[in-house]
Amino acid sequence: MPETLAEAVSRRRTFAIIAHPDAGKTTLTEKLLLFGGAIQLAGEVKAKKDRIQTRSDWMKIERERGISVVTSVMTFEYDDKVFNILDTPGHEDFADDTYRTLTAVDAAIMVIDAAKGIEPRTLKLFEVCRMRDIPIITFVNKMDRESRDIFEILDEIEEKLALDTAPITWPIGRSKSFCGSYYLTSNKVRGSDKEVEATQVNGPQDVANRLPENERAAFIEETQLALEACRPFDREAFLEGHLTPVFFGSALRNFGVRDLINALGDIAPPPRDQVADTRTVHADEDKMTAFVFKIQANMDPNHRDRIAFARICSGKLERGMKARLARTGKQMGLTAPQFFFASQRHIADTAFAGDVVGIPNHGTLRIGDTLTEGENLVFQGVPNFSPEILRRVRLEDAMKAKKLKEALHQMAEEGVVQLFSPEDGSPAIVGVVGALQLDVLKERLMGEYGLPVSFEMSRFSICRWISAEQSADMEKFLTIKRGDIARDLDGDPVFLAQDAFSLRYESERYPAIKMAAIKEYH
Ligand code: G4P
Repeated sequence: MPETLAEAVSRRRTFAIIAHPDAGKTTLTEKLLLFGGAIQLAGEVKAKKDRIQTRSDWMKIERERGISVVTSVMTFEYDDKVFNILDTPGHEDFADDTYRTLTAVDAAIMVIDAAKGIEPRTLKLFEVCRMRDIPIITFVNKMDRESRDIFEILDEIEEKLALDTAPITWPIGRSKSFCGSYYLTSNKVRGSDKEVEATQVNGPQDVANRLPENERAAFIEETQLALEACRPFDREAFLEGHLTPVFFGSALRNFGVRDLINALGDIAPPPRDQVADTRTVHADEDKMTAFVFKIQANMDPNHRDRIAFARICSGKLERGMKARLARTGKQMGLTAPQFFFASQRHIADTAFAGDVVGIPNHGTLRIGDTLTEGENLVFQGVPNFSPEILRRVRLEDAMKAKKLKEALHQMAEEGVVQLFSPEDGSPAIVGVVGALQLDVLKERLMGEYGLPVSFEMSRFSICRWISAEQSADMEKFLTIKRGDIARDLDGDPVFLAQDAFSLRYESERYPAIKMAAIKEYH
């Protein structure tokens, strides 16, 4: 029997991994992909080599600095489920990219280093997940090394994140004697990830025998305390984002990853409902809807193409189908949607709600765009964060001003930088969240457009999107402050302030004007 749409959708799990750099996100991602057979070890090495040869020059920045700049998606199947991992840049200078990616997932794995606990980036990324009530599964990694006390780690999650915890497994042993997971309530044990099935045991006493004699009593005491003192798992609370199930392991040494992937399949939610301007869209509706959360140019420099990453929110996307682009009302043909398996891409014939496809285009699609099979609706909530750094772009060859304008426009559409055109006609200002984005911009302008540029300080340092209940208030402000007003890529007005003091001063002087640090695309 062919699979129904509802069945196909319910098999999907779309998630991101959030972590402070070095906690083990990359290692865990690779191990998860290995489960799905998406990469073999030999192939992995080869893929890395290919990647280095084929990626465009600006990727040098990524290699030289050892950071991951590109957000990508990796799909694999395991145990009848389809997993889509949306990768996010680890470096905080690309935070806006990460935040946008988190709008496209249904769940997140939070990786914590067992010796370090909650670190600053973990906290920040967690806050974004909380804004969207994304359910979180916690993986306490590096149990093969010296770790903090387990109860202390759980307490820290509860206190720093205001998130209830429910340990599903308990680590058997620590550092050198760490040898697997004990399922607290179901009384099962799994040694390494090589063990497909967990083994039923009689109780902690049975498990303790796996440990050196001097550690046994402590293990029994701890697990008893955990059973008495820790919260039981409550799926409802997990799905609402109030409680996190906790697993322990070592991604490097292949412990606990199987527990994690089983949990993703069993308790993580299938594709969620998505809120649009006119109504809420359910994932198993027949008609296809999707939104674009990321644009990536020149993934393959031989083709100079531009890929829009779209999260399918409902229905089925079929190759060759026509979709309506909400922003323009125009139809576009989806002739070559692509799937991503580790580092390879494939043409996708069909994709379902929850999946992420890459749609090649020449600038038609922008971040935040909605695609539908005809219905006029727009998905809410792909955010734009106000830049932390504002700069003017200085061109060494003034004859190329027009080319620069075009190039900046394209970069802004891709989300590499934000572009603001001052109302008084002075040269455009670029805005970024982190300084590394400026390096990427500079390299790409040189590499792809042959434009050598440098950056100059702007007299402004803060940018806020402005709006008012009464259009008269807005018009008055726009006229009086003309020299400090610019338009973003969509033509929406922003107020540019020299510093925090002047921002505060002007907001107090013009209380009718709302000044927002985050703009949701619509
Ligand atoms: P990230 O993407 O979150 O930044 O972390 P990544 O996976 O790159 O891991 C950071 C370092 O931690 C790596 O070591 C990695 O091998 C190590 N690591 C990851 N998981 C575990 C674990 O479960 N146990 C132990 N002991 N180490 C782990 P590195 O020396 O920085 O890099 P490499 O040279 O080993 O690649």
